[in-house]
Amino acid sequence: MEVASRFLRACQRLPVDAPPVWFMRQAGRYMPEYRALREKYSLLEICYQPELAAEVTLQPVRALGVDAAILFADILLPAIPLGVGLEFARGEGPILHNPIRTLEDVRNLRPVDPNADLGYVLQAIRILRGELKDTPLIGFCGAPFTVAAYMVEGGSSRDFLKTKTLMYSDPRTWHALMDRLAGVLSDYLLAQIRAGAQAVQVFDSWVGALSPGDYSEFVQPYSRRVLQAAQAAGVAVIHFGTGTATLLPAMKAAGGTVLGLDWRIPLDEGWKLVGHDVGVQGNLDPAVLFAPLPEIKKRVEDILRRAAGRPGHIFNLGHGILPNTPVEHVRAVVEMVHAHAWSLAR
Ligand code: CP3
Repeated sequence: MEVASRFLRACQRLPVDAPPVWFMRQAGRYMPEYRALREKYSLLEICYQPELAAEVTLQPVRALGVDAAILFADILLPAIPLGVGLEFARGEGPILHNPIRTLEDVRNLRPVDPNADLGYVLQAIRILRGELKDTPLIGFCGAPFTVAAYMVEGGSSRDFLKTKTLMYSDPRTWHALMDRLAGVLSDYLLAQIRAGAQAVQVFDSWVGALSPGDYSEFVQPYSRRVLQAAQAAGVAVIHFGTGTATLLPAMKAAGGTVLGLDWRIPLDEGWKLVGHDVGVQGNLDPAVLFAPLPEIKKRVEDILRRAAGRPGHIFNLGHGILPNTPVEHVRAVVEMVHAHAWSLAR
């Protein structure tokens, strides 16, 4: 069957008419349409109401002309049915009220049935597939490590001290937690794929806090289960992390048809490290979007030059769009990337 969209073609490393581009956190506070909705509803209220989640997902597709939509949800939603408790406090980020510290805590985590407990996410996917026409929809979940880190810390962290202390002092509890999360997150991702997600991204946003040795021992087997489950379902799987320059070969070995690269490694070096038998996504520094347009253009073109027209590059930032990013700069990047078709053809 002919795969129509640039994004899905690039995920399979097929040639494209222009590089596909989308942005992590493309829906969010930098957009006036999103802020308007957030005056009436909390983040979780938007997630819980599939019509609203679908509407927010579509906002950047309409405003920016990106080549893919990413479902509006959050990597921490599975923490709610697990019984950890989740709140997004204004200006403070996520708070998980019952953090995991002991084997007893892991054993007390509740069973999760994604169809019943996260059915609102699946319903948003079904609505979106009806509305999106030719734009593919990306589903997602957090990787076991990043979700575990929030569950152990009880919120965001700079040094992941509680997480690492658990890992190093009580490995049995750590492995039990990761085992539980690998199961829940695989089931959740598979349910999203059944509901209609055409590609999925696994966000291991904070895995760069680990050494390669700790990654292999404490994380890789669990990431592998989630990634391989999604790949076996036949969709493109983007394996994303930040600060991962030294972890990329081990992340590639864990799985993913596309590896995410952040701006700390030049795109061509990162691609060489993971091998040209997988695609890569990235890797503009989100802070560059605050620079004047000529500076942005220089850096966008540097990335495209490093990708060298090789099939399998998906243009993105190295991490999510930051609050207060000028919307017109984001739109300009989409145009710059799409205009690159001409230099690819030559
Ligand atoms: O547009 C999209 O990318 C889809 C929606 C999306 C959200 N969260 C909505 C959201 C996605 C893909 C996520 C993933 C997510 N959530 C990650 C992984 C990606 C990354 O950035 O590394 C992480 C670590 C989280 C956890 C999370 N959610 C934090 C730490 C915060 C608070 C910090 C912040 O930016 O405010 C959130 C809140 C959140 N999730 C917002 C959005 C749009 C913030 C906006 C709001 O409060 O309305």
